[in-house]
Amino acid sequence: MNERWRVFVGSASTRLGAEVCERLETAPAAYECRRFPDGEMQVEIPAPLAGCDVFLLQSTSPPVERHLMEFLLLADACRRAGASRLTAVIPYLGYARQDRRVERRSLGARVMASVIATAGLDRLMLMDVHTSATEGFFDIPLEHLTAVPLLARAAAPSMRENSVVVAPDLGAVRRAREYARLLDLPMAFVHKTRLSGADVQAHGIVGDVRNRAPLIVDDMLSTGATVEAAIGALRAAGAVEPICVAVTHALLVGRARDVLRHLPIARLIVGDTVPIEPPAVRQLEVTSVAPLIATAIQRASRDESLSDLCVPA
Ligand code: R5P
Repeated sequence: MNERWRVFVGSASTRLGAEVCERLETAPAAYECRRFPDGEMQVEIPAPLAGCDVFLLQSTSPPVERHLMEFLLLADACRRAGASRLTAVIPYLGYARQDRRVERRSLGARVMASVIATAGLDRLMLMDVHTSATEGFFDIPLEHLTAVPLLARAAAPSMRENSVVVAPDLGAVRRAREYARLLDLPMAFVHKTRLSGADVQAHGIVGDVRNRAPLIVDDMLSTGATVEAAIGALRAAGAVEPICVAVTHALLVGRARDVLRHLPIARLIVGDTVPIEPPAVRQLEVTSVAPLIATAIQRASRDESLSDLCVPA
């Protein structure tokens, strides 16, 4: 590792960051994040960063506000310590699902982009953001990394002649197309509507799933409602087991663990962009995105292209 690199790892990405740093043969850069009695945070970098190419790794996963604030303070401290170039790697971007204007509702993804822009970044790396449209909210140079090839490779041993890739909603179609291409499988999608944050309804399937074993693919699994509804619709349409699921971001909030416990999922293949807390979920298999991030950091530090690591245009 070049003497002038530094990788700072935020508290939302401790485990992932440790693995990334191990691959880069370095240790996470030291900093102190202290808390005041009122809960406010303060970040201090113990040594100057003059001339350093700094990478800051932090998912804005729940609790988003805390992890975002920590990220902003860390970026500010790095700048003030003299970092010559500052690149943020945000494997999971919170609020990304709020990406469409709906009358008088706040537009969370846009607000996140505006706030992140205040961090004084030179570059930003995101991963499998809910929709690529979010890229347009950012004005700084952005690389949209994808874990889909890693997850597809992990799913491959379970794929059979009768397998089919299933997008659990319209928004997942583009991603599903990529899985289908990589695994050389046909695809189908579920016609879904979201009723609330934790309730969705599946109205039917577009595509042939009868007697086929589905691989349901999505950007994230949050409460599990989408996967639950998709499996219900798939079974009603004649799909068969084994049913596999692959998602980049395993948030597993609310009743997710309960939902998953009762679903006939043979394998639940997830990335580690978000720390996965116990209790364990029986079907869960974690595929680390650390190799992808380490390669991206290494190449970015040499100003090499990352295009083959990114979501296809
Ligand atoms: C929504 O469009 C996303 O792509 C996911 O399908 C959704 O956010 C998953 O959330 P949940 O598990 O709560 O249904």
